Amino acid sequence: MYDNNPTLMGIRKEIDETKQGEVFFKETANDGGRHFYIESYGCQMNFSDSEIVASILSEVGFSPTRNMENADLILVNTCSIREKAEDTVRQRLRIFDKIKRNRPGTMVGVLGCMAERLKSKFLEEEKLVDLVIGPDAYRDLPNLVATAEDGEKGVNVFLSREETYADISPLRLDSNGVTAFISIMRGCDNMCSFCVVPYTRGRERSRDCYSIVAEAKDLFENGYREVTLLGQNVDSYKWQHPDTGEVVNFAQLLEMTALVHPDLRIRFSTSHPKDITDEVLHTMARHENICKYIHLPVQSGNSRVLNLMNRTYDREWYMNRVEAIYRIMPECAISSDIITGFCTETEEEHKDTLSMIEWANYSMSYMFFYSERPGTLAARKYEDDIPQDVKKRRLSEIVRLQNQVSFKHNQADIGKTFKVLIEGDSKKSDQHFKGRNTQNKMIVFPKVNGLKPGDYVRVKVNDATSATLIGEVSSEV
Ligand code: SAH
Ligand code: SF4
Ligand code: F3S
Repeated sequence: MYDNNPTLMGIRKEIDETKQGEVFFKETANDGGRHFYIESYGCQMNFSDSEIVASILSEVGFSPTRNMENADLILVNTCSIREKAEDTVRQRLRIFDKIKRNRPGTMVGVLGCMAERLKSKFLEEEKLVDLVIGPDAYRDLPNLVATAEDGEKGVNVFLSREETYADISPLRLDSNGVTAFISIMRGCDNMCSFCVVPYTRGRERSRDCYSIVAEAKDLFENGYREVTLLGQNVDSYKWQHPDTGEVVNFAQLLEMTALVHPDLRIRFSTSHPKDITDEVLHTMARHENICKYIHLPVQSGNSRVLNLMNRTYDREWYMNRVEAIYRIMPECAISSDIITGFCTETEEEHKDTLSMIEWANYSMSYMFFYSERPGTLAARKYEDDIPQDVKKRRLSEIVRLQNQVSFKHNQADIGKTFKVLIEGDSKKSDQHFKGRNTQNKMIVFPKVNGLKPGDYVRVKVNDATSATLIGEVSSEV
């Protein structure tokens, strides 16, 4: 499947041109039977990156395994966004340690944001780790693995201004064969004061739009029916053709991908309230296959806190964007990310976030309490002064309200009929399918003969919880 793929041959060429890579490639060509195991944490970007890593490794003779005990190389793609995310990774490393002791020679590599944040310090802190590789250095993985095989530890945390892995065909891991992610940009140039991402992912850069459209086409031809375009701030996507100077913005990229095929659904994440334009909204409205769902994180509903967070918009600006969305696409669902207990947040300011949840009528939200991250603007400038119990109490209030709002949002769908893309069996029963409607709501319904994952079907909703719609296949149009 991969031998005729010109993009992968591109990687092979690059590997052959580096001395260690060449040696490594010849060695693996002889033994062929080595396995890597990869676990991913954090955002969709990380999951998407793991598929790039898998592709790079498969080119040098490693095949993926789901069983870490069989692996010659155990990789963990890490997240630094909150302290808890890093704690989880350290716990996983204890498990890998046991495996390594039972199977000497197993290599352990740390990828992603935590690797980038801690750099070679990781090797001092975690003796079992052989490799530390940052998000822009995955092409160097074969070299570093070869170094580790010689008993030397390897680190590459170089952050690039150009790397987009545009020429690499991701090896889809754990795929349902229906939905896939496509990275359209990397890094982030915003400096939200609480956020570690600009430090772990480097400068923002956009990927060649033609390689994005080609990837979408390829996925469609291989049976996929939905792609999610990924970036930390997709609305600032901007790619300039090196020869013609032609500039493509996010709205134009959306349109280009939507035109791949009317049966290919397009989603995207994440939108930044300061950058989302009416042009994007009108483009969404024009194309039935661009899903009517926007993840538009508010973080806080209070302007003073937003200013401290350096989000560069205020409550009014955010409300104006939400109004524009509902005006241009009345059926659009909006979801959010919310942080409670940011430095100096008062009870009144917390209430502004509560009122925003109701006003914006979010279909769902990801909610967190503030976790100070070393090196960020907030860690340097503000005291993390909200006691943990207050942060948690505010979080539980936010969660409770969001659940109520989600429940009402879903109850309002009872009696409606939606076009649903079938993704596979429902979690709870193999007699039911699950799929999503355009608003990104999960719908569960009894199977009907002749239908399969990847098919579109009309489903009438007859019940709803705060998380799921329950329905049945409908003949109504
Ligand atoms: N680029 C996206 C967010 C990526 S991080 C955006 O700008 O919306 C995902 C979410 O994690 C953020 O939206 C924020 O709500 C949360 N988050 C980031 N840093 C955090 C921190 N230090 N403590 C708690 N939550 C945080
Ligand atoms: Fe972090 Fe802000 Fe960038 Fe999102 S936009 S990744 S929250 S710095
Ligand atoms: Fe985490 Fe890095 Fe994503 S810090 S949220 S994995 S960009």
